[in-house]
Amino acid sequence: MTVRLNKVRHLVRRFFGHVFARPLRPAEQDFVDGHLSGACAELFWLQSDADQRHAVNTAGRVAEKLPNDREAIEAALLHDVGKWRPYIGPVSRSIATILDLARLPMTNDMRAYRDHGPLGALQLEAARCGRLAVEFARHHSTEEIDGADAERWKVLYEADS
Ligand SMILES: [Fe+2]
Repeated sequence: MTVRLNKVRHLVRRFFGHVFARPLRPAEQDFVDGHLSGACAELFWLQSDADQRHAVNTAGRVAEKLPNDREAIEAALLHDVGKWRPYIGPVSRSIATILDLARLPMTNDMRAYRDHGPLGALQLEAARCGRLAVEFARHHSTEEIDGADAERWKVLYEADS
């Protein structure tokens, strides 16, 4: 029950964060450019303003705890790239999350949104982004995974909450 309540709280926060998100400011764009390049940067910029904002906020929290860990900051910036296509708005995203929680059927676009982690990981792999970025995109909703540095993963996981 607590897990579901946390999920609902997260959903509400995410919905309003998405609706009121502002484009990145120049200093935030510079932060992204300082940590991503080539095809990995291109994937970042394909995201909606709201998803870019969420990624930069997540990466900022990671940078506070792990300022010299460029791989972790890259992973935070790229963890949700799987959401860029197909793009569905905040209402459909919320409905998809509720349908998923209730284990009810959903449209193909909603299913792609639900599966944005593994789909994004494949895109990051194809773009030859860092290993941690690929792993965190694939498993970012998982609190712990085998084979990962537990402390580093915790920082990433909590930054995304
Ligand atoms: Fe996220």
